[in-house]
Amino acid sequence: MQVKTYTTTPYDDQKPGTSGLRKKVKVFQKPGYLENFVQSIFNSLENFQGKTLVLGGDGRFFNRQAIQIIIKMAAANGFGELIIGQGGLLSTPAASNIIRQYQAFGGIILSASHNPGGPDEDFGIKYNVSNGGPAPEKFTDALYQQTKVITSYKIAELDDVDLDSIGEWSLEGLKIRVIDSVADYAQLMAKIFDFELIKQSIAAGLITLRFDAMHAITGPYATQILEGMLGATAGSVFNAVPLEDFGGGHPDPNMAHAHELTEIMFGDNPPTLGAASDGDGDRNMIMGANIFVTPSDSLAIMAANAQLIPAYAKGISGVARSMPTSQAVDRVAQALKIPCYETPTGWKFFGNLLDAGKITLCGEESFGSGSNHVREKDGLWAVLFWLNLIARKRQSIADIVLEHWQKYGRDIYCRHDYEAVDTTIANDILDFLRSQLPNLQGKVWGDYVVKYADEFSYTDPVDHSVSSQQGIRIGFSNGSRIVFRLSGTGTIGATLRIYLERYERDAQSLLQDAQVALAELSDIAEQLCQVKQRTGRTEPTVIT
Ligand code: G1P
Ligand code: ZN
Repeated sequence: MQVKTYTTTPYDDQKPGTSGLRKKVKVFQKPGYLENFVQSIFNSLENFQGKTLVLGGDGRFFNRQAIQIIIKMAAANGFGELIIGQGGLLSTPAASNIIRQYQAFGGIILSASHNPGGPDEDFGIKYNVSNGGPAPEKFTDALYQQTKVITSYKIAELDDVDLDSIGEWSLEGLKIRVIDSVADYAQLMAKIFDFELIKQSIAAGLITLRFDAMHAITGPYATQILEGMLGATAGSVFNAVPLEDFGGGHPDPNMAHAHELTEIMFGDNPPTLGAASDGDGDRNMIMGANIFVTPSDSLAIMAANAQLIPAYAKGISGVARSMPTSQAVDRVAQALKIPCYETPTGWKFFGNLLDAGKITLCGEESFGSGSNHVREKDGLWAVLFWLNLIARKRQSIADIVLEHWQKYGRDIYCRHDYEAVDTTIANDILDFLRSQLPNLQGKVWGDYVVKYADEFSYTDPVDHSVSSQQGIRIGFSNGSRIVFRLSGTGTIGATLRIYLERYERDAQSLLQDAQVALAELSDIAEQLCQVKQRTGRTEPTVIT
């Protein structure tokens, strides 16, 4: 194999964020930009000669070009085998499964998740390790150091690979396998859930559903599983064809962006279940007729009912949630007498807990939930969990949620995002919050008395690594919380996220409107961080 070495100079902006490196496509198209980052990944790895690398992406603009480049670089650097999803497509959870199932050394996933796609939008790349999960911080830090000192990268002089034909062939000693992107994942789902029961319930008309694939990666997965294997009516999955620009939309499954689905679920004759997934298939939104289930509640309800699902029938060992996620799942864990871990934002922190068997289920408020079946969050898995649950309980989603709140109380929850804030202003806001922390305890705003105020730091119970500065937490004596943190996935300026949470136990008040219930906390948050005052904005960019 002919390998060419190109000299290069470092780019200074290749620090991986919450989930890999995300930049505008135009940035990735700069000469050597993608190559520098990929070579830095390989430079940070050891002992991978002759081993297997999994490769796939969410199909957004630049996916195909990037895959051809990475194939040639992986070959030049000495990988022995590449497993690639047909068309260069793999959802993030499917990629995680492939890495595990084929015992690969690792995988490169091309995605900017829920960020828009297209020539002027976002692209992303991340490395996953052999357990199928995102590389831990130790690796991404080392990788960042590599990007700062890189001087050359290697490319094998090979022809482009035909990504569209399933098959196996050898290219000058390199084995290439293009596999069906959906088949292995679909089989895994059939092992976890009671497909027969769901199928019968759909056939009997007890369950109707609509799934909005948002022109992103889950289209083919949802169509094959929900319509093909479970017998949902043709057309139940809509916006099902993946497009390079997601049809111009934000492939982010929340009520702000999945408005078509939201209209169906709050319209006349809504189906039993409405769901959506994001650009790369790891997020989910669950809705019932006239109800939106917050991701934090969804996680809590899944944990409380896990024993109804075949794969978790013997019980769950523990649960975990990211710090800003509501405390609803903590209450379930307490009742089940199982541990509940609070981790920093980002799926990578769940990996060690899952590998060590300390937890079975985990989730984040940002429309992510998952289990020990893979090492990424998994959108369709969550949808199938809910379908299995409805089929077993024979209740509507609204009834399941209300019953849960009656038993555990309700953690009324909402997130306010201020996007594209000037980076200096955003950093000043965080500094301003930090400066107040020592003096906040005992401070009173009406019914809200500050119980603690700190900056979250996490010590991994498995490898004892410490992650500090993971968000500002203000806890109140009535169980309410306000959390502030800056996003690690945005590509323009900074995004300030404000998470508001209030615990309600009173049976008469369970059904109140979240925005109304959280109005006072929202005012307190503004007094604490002054984001409106400092940016001149009157409201958040997005409320979820
Ligand atoms: C966001 C979410 C976080 C999630 C990540 C990747 O990160 O908040 O929960 O793990 O996307 O999907 P953030 O932009 O807040 O750093
Ligand atoms: Zn995603």
